[in-house]
Amino acid sequence: MKALVYHGPGKKVWEEKPNPVILESTDAIIKISKTTICGTDLHILKGDVPEVIDGRILGHEGVGIVEEVGSAVTGFNKGDHVLISCITSCGKCEYCKKGMYSHCEKGGWILGHLIDGTQAEYVRIPFADNSLYHVPENADEEALVMLSDILPTAFECGVLNGQVKPGDTVAIVGAGPIGLAVLITAQFYTPAEIIMIDIDDNRLNVAKTFGANQTINSGNENALEKIMNLTEQKGVDVAIEAVGVPATFELCESIIAAGGHIANVGVHGKSVNLHLETLWSKNITITTRLVDTITTSMLLKTVTSKKLDPSKLITHRFPLKDIEHAYDTFQNAAKEKTLKVILSS
Ligand SMILES: NC(=O)c1ccc[n+]([C@@H]2O[C@H](COP(=O)([O-])OP(=O)(O)OC[C@H]3O[C@@H](n4cnc5c(N)ncnc54)[C@H](O)[C@@H]3O)[C@@H](O)[C@H]2O)c1
Ligand SMILES: [Zn+2]
Ligand SMILES: [Zn+2]
Repeated sequence: MKALVYHGPGKKVWEEKPNPVILESTDAIIKISKTTICGTDLHILKGDVPEVIDGRILGHEGVGIVEEVGSAVTGFNKGDHVLISCITSCGKCEYCKKGMYSHCEKGGWILGHLIDGTQAEYVRIPFADNSLYHVPENADEEALVMLSDILPTAFECGVLNGQVKPGDTVAIVGAGPIGLAVLITAQFYTPAEIIMIDIDDNRLNVAKTFGANQTINSGNENALEKIMNLTEQKGVDVAIEAVGVPATFELCESIIAAGGHIANVGVHGKSVNLHLETLWSKNITITTRLVDTITTSMLLKTVTSKKLDPSKLITHRFPLKDIEHAYDTFQNAAKEKTLKVILSS
């Protein structure tokens, strides 16, 4: 088969690899129909994720058809149409039993990281019964690819941890695919006001069409001053960090109202300053989370019932064999106006 293979920082090649085979009785082999590229794949290519070895097939998102199942798989059969979760989980260990699939003792985020991933013609999915979802008939396959990672990440780490409530004022820092997915899923709870902050005017314009009430380009406006003016100097009830750099987390600390929630979604590589000297008396809650994908079934229902339309996050489409070109488009997001790309086999 053909697959997108990582060969060390900056190097990736669409090349021939052996087809995956069943290694454990709980495995399934999936023929990929649609996959995508994540910001995390770019982190890997930059060399930020050193556990990823030379020769690894990248990708942790996708939809496909079951090609073969191991003898212990009971929930799926050859020919089933399935959604692949970015988190692999056994469903049996202590963490899985707590609903923390991200910390599964035998799984977690392993696809396209510690084992071969989905940017390929075929992929092996361990613990298939707990790590795959049946695709409902007539569902929009492209929209469902957004459910492998970005929608559950945005909803669980941002909206649920941030405890967005009706009437809240919510600030979302970062209008990338994740920040925009926070924006659309936060609206389940009818917050009064959503303020989107980024440095990319195109993404801020997209945010307006997705329901943001206010947008701030923090590259050329004073975001702190503007948010304080918008909130009668009180700050916001919920501040969601969806970038992953110290400046954006510190902005969240400076705009949070008394009793508010700061929900961190971004992957951070550097330490940030915690301003306890101003926050200690403000009754705030700060949360962090690695996506568990425990809300995937719920989100799937909202998508199939057309209450949520994640396909609007898709800006570019390519045949799977043109994945190297798709990476170029995804890497030049500001110039190409890219959000999510779809690769079809
Ligand atoms: N917690 C989890 O489980 C989890 C899962 C997936 C992704 N993530 C992380 O979520 C974050 C967002 O993901 P994404 O795919 O949307 O990334 P992205 O890089 O596409 O988007 C980040 C956005 O932040 C903006 N930005 C950069 N610097 C800024 C600044 N100083 N001020 C304001 N805006 C700024 C960029 O213009 C961009 O639009 C990343 O850090 C990613 O690694 C976390
Ligand atoms: Zn991802
Ligand atoms: Zn487990």
